[in-house]
This record gives sequence, structure tokens and C-alpha cells, in this order.
Amino acid sequence: MSPLLNSYDMGGIPLANRVVMAPMTRCRAKSMVPDAQTVLYYRQRAGAGLIISEGSQISAEGTGYLYTPGIYTPEQIDGWKKVTKAVHDEGGKMFVQLWHVGRMSHVSLQKNGAAPVSSVAVAAQNSNCYAYGENGEPGPIQASEPRALETREVAGITSDFVTAGVEAMRAGFDGVEIHGANGYIFDQFANGALNTRVDQYGGSTMNRLRFTLETVDALAREVGNSRVGIRLSPFGRLYDMQPFDDEENTWLTLANELSKRDLAYVHLSDQTAFTGAGIGREFLGRFRDAYEGTLILTGALDQDAGEELVELGLTDLAGFGRPFVSNPDLVERFRNGWPLSPVDMPTLYTGGEKGYADYPAYSEQLESTSADSD
Ligand SMILES: Cc1cc2nc3c(=O)[nH]c(=O)nc-3n(C[C@H](O)[C@H](O)[C@H](O)COP(=O)(O)O)c2cc1C
Repeated sequence: MSPLLNSYDMGGIPLANRVVMAPMTRCRAKSMVPDAQTVLYYRQRAGAGLIISEGSQISAEGTGYLYTPGIYTPEQIDGWKKVTKAVHDEGGKMFVQLWHVGRMSHVSLQKNGAAPVSSVAVAAQNSNCYAYGENGEPGPIQASEPRALETREVAGITSDFVTAGVEAMRAGFDGVEIHGANGYIFDQFANGALNTRVDQYGGSTMNRLRFTLETVDALAREVGNSRVGIRLSPFGRLYDMQPFDDEENTWLTLANELSKRDLAYVHLSDQTAFTGAGIGREFLGRFRDAYEGTLILTGALDQDAGEELVELGLTDLAGFGRPFVSNPDLVERFRNGWPLSPVDMPTLYTGGEKGYADYPAYSEQLESTSADSD
């Protein structure tokens, strides 16, 4: 049998298989609240061993895109409760991805038109968020210049992560994933080319990692270490993340530190398919040696590549993003060798109901083909 289909004990959380649905922003939450379509979309995908929700902002300040769901108002938390119940009813497990975009925001999304916040007051070049333009219309728009957080303010963001994490557990999630990847706030502190701070959150490797580790520790204290995962994208170049001298050492130091904390997992997001830069096999091996717990790897995998990586022991779980958009029954397709449906790229982030919860399972596809030929 495919090693991806074996069950897996993720630090006491039993997973039916080793196939993970990677977090994917779908911009379908009209008022930033998960609704009936969100419930249906995740219910359809509950055959994954683990679902990780789309990025869910922990505060208004942490928002970078209109129509992404939050996890900080009573309505949002109530919306998520219905999602987790649906996934659990189908026998699935689900973590929420806790998200603060840092500088990848726009003044029109911030309270009183304030500047977004980051490690330093440097805007991400050629990087769009999704906000209101000058004409008041929603659309892609260059991220605004941020202001640097005061030293004492950093703990306030950690505290927002904790509040959201506690609410997430009340909403029935099996755990929380800190979004430490893809050029958002934690990357903005870890990156030595960007972070030129001179306080305890900048400079040395450990200083640049301090905010990440303080947030991991604070969440672990409140929701339990086995309920906290984190996503990282070593060598990722999204949103103007530039190479820096200490780069490999930074990620391996973080791997060592996280290893001591006995977390639910570390989730590596390989961006090679998106930007040409990312995680090679050699680095993956070194990260694997440095980090002892459960590892998830995502990024342009297919079934064969996922199986190979699990068999080689380079990852424990294999994450799939786009294949899960267009194949709600992805695990069943893997199990039966059924073909995969292609994803419709234009409706990934827009398009209302089209391209969201309307992709059929393979059995439904067959039924409609045979009905057509009747
Ligand atoms: C539509 C879309 C939305 C995404 N949103 C998120 C997100 O909210 N958080 C995140 O960490 N990664 C996000 N990603 C990255 C995916 O989790 C994944 O790493 C990436 O798609 C590569 O995996 P794949 O080749 O299997 O699609 C997104 C990717 C896509 C295609």
C-alpha cells in the first residue's frame, strides 16, 4: 500500500493517513467570516489526514487581503465552529493557520488608515496585497510602507496570536499552525537582509528568531505544545524576501530550537515551483537531522514524489495544495489510482461559488459522464 495512506500518530493526534491539505487562501469570505460555503468546502476535503485552514488573520492589523477569514471576532469564531464540526463529523482533523501579514498590508485595511507594522520601515517592492484602491474599489494594490514596531509592541502581537489560538481551540480546531512562512511577519523578523533592528529582535541569529520563538512558547503554554505547529519557508523569496548571509544557519538554528519544544509539527513550504528558489534535497536532509519531530513538506508534490519522500524518511507527512482545490477526494484518488482533475487557476482567489466547492468527487464525475452519454 502507498505509504501516504498509512495512518500516523502526530504526537497523540491520530491521523487517518499522511496526506495533508496545505493552507490555501481562497478569498471567499465576503465579510471575513467563514460561511456555509466554507463549511461545505472543508467538509468535502475531510478525507485528508490533516486539513490546515487557509491563513486566518489574528487581528485587523494582521490583515493583508480583503475576503480572507479572521479568527478574532465572535462571528468569525462561530463560523469556524461550524467548519470544525463538519470536518470532525466526516472523521477528519483540522488545524487553523494563524496569520499576521506584517508589512504585506495596505493603509485602507488598517484602523484609521494607519501604516501596517513590520520589523523595519521598509516596504516590500513589487508586492501586492488586496485592498481598496484610491477609487475605493477593491483590487490588487502595492503594499504600503510599514512602520517599525517599537520593542514593547512586539509582545502585543504575540499576545494576539495567543488570544486567537485559545479561541481557535474553543472553536474546535485540533491545533494551530503559526504562519511563519512566505514573507509575512515572522519572515520579516527572521530575514537578516531586511531586519536591521538594533534591539533584542534584530542582529544576531537568535535575536532575529526571538519573536518567532516567543510566540511559539506563549501559544504552547496556553494551548499545549502538542497542539502547536509552525510553517516555514526557508530560502523563500515571495514578497521581496532577499537572500542573506546567515540564511542556512538561521533555519537550522530554528530547527534545533523547535526540536526542543516537542511541537505538533514543523511544516516546510517549498516555493521552488513558484519562484525558482526553495528547499533542495540536501537542505531538507540537514533540516530533518536538526529537527526531531513530525515534519510536513509541501510544494509541487504529486503522489509519487510524496511517497518517495516518506519512504526516504525525508518527511513524515506530504502536503498538497492545488491538487486539493480541484480534487476534494484526493486521498481516494490516490488509493484507487484514479486520475486527478486539473485546477482552474483563474478562480483560485476570486469568482464566488465557481471554482470553490463545486469540484466533483471522482464518483460524481463518473455519474455525470454516464448521464451525459445516456
Ligand atoms: C490559492 C492558493 C492559496 C494559498 N494560500 C496560502 C495560505 O493561506 N497560507 C500558506 O501558508 N500558503 C498558502 N499557499 C501555498 C500552499 O499552501 C502551498 O504551499 C503551495 O500551493 C504549493 O503546494 P502545491 O504545489 O501542492 O499547490 C497558497 C497557495 C495557493 C495555490
